[in-house]
Amino acid sequence: MFAMGSSSWIRILFLSLTTLCSCFATEVTYDANALIINGERRLIFSGAVHYPRSTVEMWPDIIQKAKDGGLDAIESYIFWNRHEPVRREYNFSGNLDFIHFFKLVQEAGLYALLRIGPYVCAEWNYGGFPLWLHNMPGIELRTDNSIYKNEMQIFTTKIVDMVKEANLFASQGGPIILAQIENEYGNIMQGYGDAGKSYIKWCAQMAVAQNIGVPWIMCQQPDAPQPMINTCNGFYCDNFQPNNPKSPKMFTENWIGWFQTWGERVPHRSAEDSAFSVAHFFQNGGVLNNYYMYHGGTNFGRTAGGPYITTSYNYDAPLDEYGNLNQPKWGHLKQLHAAIKLGEKILTNSTRSDKDLGNAVTLTTYTSVGGSRFCFLSNTNNNTNANVDLQQDGKYFIPAWSVTILAGCNKEVFNTAKVNSQTSIMVKKSDDATTKLTWVWTLERKKDTLHGNGDFNANQLLEQKELTLDVSDYLWYMTNVDINDTSIWSNATLRVDTMGHTLHAYVNRRYVGYKFSQERSNFTYENQVPLKNGTNTIALLSATVGLANYGARFDKIKTGIAGGLVQLIGKNNVTMDLSTNLWSYKIGLNGERKRLYDLQPHIGVSWHANSSYPISRPMTWYKADFEAPYGKNPVVVDLQGLGKGHAWVNGHSIGRYWPSWITATNGCNDTCDYHGKYTAENCNTNCGNPSQRWYHVPRSFLNNDKNTLVLFEEIGGNPQNVSFQTVTTGTICAHVYEGALLELSCQGGQVISQIQFASFGNPQGKCGSFKLGSWEATNSRSVVETACIGKPSCGFAVTKEAFGVTGIANDLTRLAVQVTC
Ligand code: GAL
Repeated sequence: MFAMGSSSWIRILFLSLTTLCSCFATEVTYDANALIINGERRLIFSGAVHYPRSTVEMWPDIIQKAKDGGLDAIESYIFWNRHEPVRREYNFSGNLDFIHFFKLVQEAGLYALLRIGPYVCAEWNYGGFPLWLHNMPGIELRTDNSIYKNEMQIFTTKIVDMVKEANLFASQGGPIILAQIENEYGNIMQGYGDAGKSYIKWCAQMAVAQNIGVPWIMCQQPDAPQPMINTCNGFYCDNFQPNNPKSPKMFTENWIGWFQTWGERVPHRSAEDSAFSVAHFFQNGGVLNNYYMYHGGTNFGRTAGGPYITTSYNYDAPLDEYGNLNQPKWGHLKQLHAAIKLGEKILTNSTRSDKDLGNAVTLTTYTSVGGSRFCFLSNTNNNTNANVDLQQDGKYFIPAWSVTILAGCNKEVFNTAKVNSQTSIMVKKSDDATTKLTWVWTLERKKDTLHGNGDFNANQLLEQKELTLDVSDYLWYMTNVDINDTSIWSNATLRVDTMGHTLHAYVNRRYVGYKFSQERSNFTYENQVPLKNGTNTIALLSATVGLANYGARFDKIKTGIAGGLVQLIGKNNVTMDLSTNLWSYKIGLNGERKRLYDLQPHIGVSWHANSSYPISRPMTWYKADFEAPYGKNPVVVDLQGLGKGHAWVNGHSIGRYWPSWITATNGCNDTCDYHGKYTAENCNTNCGNPSQRWYHVPRSFLNNDKNTLVLFEEIGGNPQNVSFQTVTTGTICAHVYEGALLELSCQGGQVISQIQFASFGNPQGKCGSFKLGSWEATNSRSVVETACIGKPSCGFAVTKEAFGVTGIANDLTRLAVQVTC
């Protein structure tokens, strides 16, 4: 006889459950033509969704929309600096709970790709590295350095152990089918010489020793040691070949759009070219395509990298920053996924032959052992359309720069340039009750710093992030200068060489101005300064705007006044070098220390309530209460009129803002020409506007009753036009070729209220400016009205019969529709 405590029973139950779990293990293997998941030969569509770039409340909807868009998997990096901001002090709460995120992916029935890095790039602050790492004596990041490797291994192991504990690897029955170590090291490896080569071997060994039971990948790493699978990142990867003929060809980052920097226009990548890149990749033997990004989201807090990455990380991804469908991209890719999946069995298990049909037109035929066929027909001409006669397999019109997918090699099921899915023009709406805000304000307290009083001193100009450990964007550098000859110095020039990113100067407690470099590089600040006989105090406030995240040894790029020079230049160019003066330092703002952005009472701070709040005044804190906009649509705050700073709602950071930085007035195109190879420069919008005017306020940050917005305005602005708005579909359009489906849907419970345009024939123009062509079916409008008015969504097959047309129709017969929700 023996008695067992309840904890022993729990352990036995746990052990048997773990054993049970292994019965459900999913085996992931591969060959050159497929990922083989539990024996099934698969092609995988995946999309990047970075969990800290949205909120826990947004995750289920994003994941479901990714699934509805035809994805099989969700991919995310792991963000080291958010999880271990202080060495061995971890944070996995809230939207850092990546285990919860991957569990939701699993519950949705999707696979997952885990990109541990732990260097991630990702336009993320410092590429994901915690600052304490940089400050460890003797450390060299991303190379064969034992101190770095030890830290990297400890963090990687911690993540792997957490994933194992949650049974999230496919080998344990979980969703994770692939894992990545390092990130695009091959791109910058040369900069590290032989140490780089041995480092990458070590990375591989360290990863394999983690024993995760699913394959490891390395992206952009042509010399990836076996069994690492090397993969490709870029706008196109059709020509890529893995370094082992037995490895599957995987496109780990298909850049579906591009990121934005402050002062830059908004980049777009067309639905046509995005689909072209994917279809051409699968035409050329692709096995896995991962969109970077599927949902870009928001760089909350100080997570944006850079320097100068905007708070919005919208990326022109299939789901926009707020989680709405970005149409027509989302819908066009959904149809593409479905078309390629029709051929999955054949593509993963057959022989391939390519036939050059001349003039950059290629027919690729996949034939299975049983004789089933699946074809791609590509036209890589930039501008010349092609008409191809495949004899008994039919005749096809292939627009320039497009790929046609032929099921059975004789039925067109998709063409990348023929966009049939809905286009949505999103609009921002103001709710009258929330438009006018009443502001209270207080000036940033600078009594100490303007008198030169900091927290510690040094006889040199120190590097900013090393000193601040990046807990704040701000660092004060202060010094005193004794002057005894005003004939030389009364009208001197202050000259500061700084590594960036913004610099404000005060002399004898007077503000003398600020400067930043538009080129995102180091710069020289120069200004006339009034000096007096006796002691003069110079106080310089340096601000960073996101730390560098890319390049060989990017971690060593300096910030702040680092080493100087700081000089005074007097009459006849007499120069006084202040670089080795005694400098006093203070990290961060007093307002940050007092946490003026949160909802606690702020002892010793008076918020002024008079209606004449300061305008264009640097270093001002503003605060206003507001009501949450009604409904469920995503909320944004319009910060037009403000300069540069940081915003918080109910104590949650919604990121840095900089609407005063206006983008170039040229280089934008209304219609993005999708023809030819895409570069991030060739399709931009938002010329001559604030680079980012609207800032996402996730619904979960808001209360039903009172809410509080706090702004720290660094360079001076006017908050009078700040307003809260919601984002929703305004006008929606479809341009559907004969034979395809018309599908229209509004969002947020709205219904189709008005048909603005409907023409079945050869309509011209684009959404917002459709025009009649040379012919149309006379009942075009009434057919659409009957099917759609008063409904949240509608759809039907666009055929001649539906419009009662006989005769005329040809290859390019189509229906154009524009409606309002
Ligand atoms: C890649 C990198 C990603 C991201 C992307 C550009 O080089 O791996 O993390 O930075 O570029 O958005």
